[in-house]
Parts: sequence; C-alpha cells; structure tokens
Amino acid sequence: MTANEIRLSFLSYFERNGHRIVASSPLVPHDDPTLLFTNAGMNQFKDVFLGKEKRDYTRATTAQKCMRVSGKHNDLDNVGPSFRHHTFFEMLGNFSFGDYFKREAIPFAWKLLTEEWKLQPDRLWATIFNGDAAVPRDDEACDIWRKFLPVERIGELGAADNFWQMGDTGPCGRCSEIYYFRGSEVGCNEEAAGGVCRGSSAAATASSKIWNNVFMEFDRQANGTLNPLPAPSIDTGMGLERVTAVIQGHLSNYDTDLFTPLLRAIGERAGTTHRGTMEPPDVSMRVVADHMRAMTFLIADGVVPSNEMRGHVLRKIMRRAMRHGQRLGVLEPFLHTLVDVIVREFGDAYPELKAGRSAIVQVVRSEEERFDAVLTDGLPKLEDVLDKAAAGNKVVSGDVAFRL
Ligand code: SER
Repeated sequence: MTANEIRLSFLSYFERNGHRIVASSPLVPHDDPTLLFTNAGMNQFKDVFLGKEKRDYTRATTAQKCMRVSGKHNDLDNVGPSFRHHTFFEMLGNFSFGDYFKREAIPFAWKLLTEEWKLQPDRLWATIFNGDAAVPRDDEACDIWRKFLPVERIGELGAADNFWQMGDTGPCGRCSEIYYFRGSEVGCNEEAAGGVCRGSSAAATASSKIWNNVFMEFDRQANGTLNPLPAPSIDTGMGLERVTAVIQGHLSNYDTDLFTPLLRAIGERAGTTHRGTMEPPDVSMRVVADHMRAMTFLIADGVVPSNEMRGHVLRKIMRRAMRHGQRLGVLEPFLHTLVDVIVREFGDAYPELKAGRSAIVQVVRSEEERFDAVLTDGLPKLEDVLDKAAAGNKVVSGDVAFRL
C-alpha cells in the first residue's frame, strides 16, 4: 500500500465502524493559549472531552497535521540522526466522546492491524500503565490484551510512557502503546550514530512504537489535581510515517513514499543520493526533507517567518534547512523549488496546499533571499568583530553583540 492508501484505509475502517471522518484542524490551534502548535489529533476535540462542547457525533476519525517542536512534546533535536522522528508528521486517530471505551478500542486496533493490514500478530506487543500513587495499574486494559497477546508480550511501564497528557493541564489518562517488533538484528539509531540508546527499554530499540491508545478519564488542573472527565473517552494516535514504514517493510520512515520523492528532489539539487546512513550528508538530507514538509504545511496554515512565537519557530526551521542545504553544497536558494513536490504528494489529502501553493513558494523564496543577505552582509561583520576581539581584550561588548 502507498502512504496515501494507508491514510485512506485507516479513515475508511473507522468510518465503517461508525466514526465520522473529520478534517484535520490547522497547525495553529484555534483559541488555545496553552499550545503553540497542534501536537496531537485530540487537540481539536479538547473541549468535547471536557464536556464543554457538543458535536453531532460521538465517534470521530482523523488524519491530523501535527508539529512537535516546542513545549511538552518536542522532537526537534532528534530530527536528522533519527529515522523515526519528525517536526511535522501526520497522526491517524480514532476518538470516542463518552461512547465506547477500552473494551471496544483495543479490539478495534487489533483488528485493523492484523486483519485489515495483515501485520503478523506475533510481531505485535503492547504496554499498559503499571500504576502510581495517584492512579492505579490498568488491570482492565491488561485483561483485554490477554485475549490477543500472551502475557510476556504485555509490558508494564510508568507514567512517562503510559500516562498521556496533552500539556500541563487538560484531558489525560492511562494509555496503552502498541509496538511492532522489527527483529533483534535491528540496531538502535542512537547507537549507530555513536551514542547511547534513548529507547525506554532494550526491546523498544528493536521495535517501532506505532500506536498510542489513550483512555481519557481525567482533566488535570494547574495544581496537579486530576478531576474526572464527564465520561470516559478514547483518544488514539498513530504516526502515519511509522506505520507506513512498518507496512512497506522499511526500517526508516525516510525510505517510505512519504519522503522518497522529496529526498530524490533534494538529491537532484545537491548532486547526491540519500543512502540512509548516519554520515553528515545523509543527516543533512533528512533535516532538509523534514523541515521542508514542516515549513510548507505551516505556511499553508498562515504562519509567516518572524521573530516572535510561531513565526520564530518557523524561521528557525527554515534557516536550519538552509544551513543544511549549504552543507550539502547547494549555495543558491533552492528550498522554494521543493514546494511543488510536497504539493504534488500531499495536495489531495490536504487541499490547502494546492490553494496556497504560490504564496508558499513566495514566502519560502523571500526568506531564503533574506537569509542569504544576512549571511552575505553579516558574516564579514561578525568576522571583523571576532578578529578585533581576538587581537584585543577578547571581549565582544554587549552593544556590538546586540547590533550583530
Ligand atoms: N494523544 C495521544 C498521543 O498523542 C494519542 O493520540 O500520543
């Protein structure tokens, strides 16, 4: 299946099971000051979980545009070295607003993975919450999983892994994560890069975490108290990039058709090919590909580069992509020429890309030219200041640093 087919098959499976297909909300959250960018499928339903808003459906399914570049969920530093982390990604989800709960949600997930998508059942394993002072162990989720999995493939982890919350406050609950075992021969990305594994357990390094099923039950208050939600609810999230890698048989998300057309285009500009290693040119290609998707989707949702808030994050991402482009030897502005690849690949699923195409190209191009001018103008000035400081008292005054 192509990634576009996987996205559609997820939505149609849940539609057949009584869910309303709801469009992704924009990356800029509507009316939620606790959030810089949409970071999960449940964001647009936050008030529905809290009982402050009613919809004419109690089951929904979405492919949601997400950014994890700030706040509680931030993957920026992993992008490049990691094969499985992104700033921008798509989260597939099914939601129940006081309708079904764990007894239906776990079988829904199991049947999609093993019957619709035909993943090998014996490669799947799951985790549940092991309990702490505030919330007890999830006995019920464990019992339900026992119908599908032997006990040794049901892991029990603490709050860091198996209690999900969107931010410091808001809807939250115990969760159960589903992993796909890639095989013991699969090394850990961090180790391959010369570092140490950051996985939650040794087994996790050979497995890919593909789906998080959150059993929403509480509304966390600023003082940490957990108030009950009006009704137990379901919020699930599956990274399209990861599950596509599993279904298409790749270890790296960057080898799926969500990235290969873009990496090919970057390679054409840079006169190279992405070989999926930890060598600097491959890392730079992954950074450019990841950031290119992020900037295109952000600009389509109305964010423009600036020095404040969301615009600042966008500018940071764009300039990081430009620097990595230069490391690949592309000295001319080129990112704006990649926008069309993304519009072509994602425009059917996200029509705002088609509608915004020429504005996006223009914004990327002018930011590239601006950064070019900053470097052409600023680098000699910086070198001059550093030379003078080196020859003198080795100090750059605050005033000069500010002007730079
Ligand atoms: N909200 C949960 C997550 O982001 C499940 O969608 O992991």
